[in-house]
Amino acid sequence: LAPKVLVGQHVLITAGPTFEAIDPVRGITNRSSGKMGFAIARAAREAGAQVTLVAGPVALPTPRGVQRVDVVSAQNMHDAVMESAQNAHIFIATAAVADWRPATAAEHKIKKDGSGVVPQMTFVENPDILAEVAHGARAQAGELFCVGFAAESQDLLANAQAKRARKGVPLLVGNIGPATFGQDDNALLLVDDEAAIELPRASKRMLAQQLVAEIARRVSGWSA
Ligand code: C5P
Repeated sequence: LAPKVLVGQHVLITAGPTFEAIDPVRGITNRSSGKMGFAIARAAREAGAQVTLVAGPVALPTPRGVQRVDVVSAQNMHDAVMESAQNAHIFIATAAVADWRPATAAEHKIKKDGSGVVPQMTFVENPDILAEVAHGARAQAGELFCVGFAAESQDLLANAQAKRARKGVPLLVGNIGPATFGQDDNALLLVDDEAAIELPRASKRMLAQQLVAEIARRVSGWSA
């Protein structure tokens, strides 16, 4: 049985991709199965936390006892997170949020008219949910501990350290390559202000339990 290291804590987690509409039948998205975030939600719940899981479009069952909020776009995810972050103690951002969305979504399906002319698209930047929460009042006051994820294809340690600083989070977790999209196992690099420690390749379920233990250990003595 998992030790109940998160009793009394409200853990907010984002998971999966976001989907940004181009028209009613098309859109752009990121590759993410949501498995790591769902595994963390399950592990946090098993550790006694109240868990809110804000999920982009994924085909995964809701872990037992977890409150799930389904969203589609980055803007939807942002709004759901901002609401729940008001009473959360821990925020873990695993979602692969689309960095940009089409400036406007067409109301009706864009037709291919046979002329060979292709649609031109303008993008606007989506909100950086993690950075906004981590720079917000509750995180800055030490009431909300924020954890970010990084999926890098090279220089993981340097990129993870830079991302940790840029996002303003105490703990940044790097996915150790090769890309783990949809896989059931992974390996993680935990980067904080003191060190980088590796959680060697294991099932996402096992890694989630280890990560929850690492977060619980840091939260118990943490203030910003
Ligand atoms: O900047 P990058 O997308 O690489 O950062 C990844 C981390 O930031 C992840 O924790 C991801 O969930 C979070 N993120 C976010 N909102 C965005 C982009 C990334 O919360 N718009």
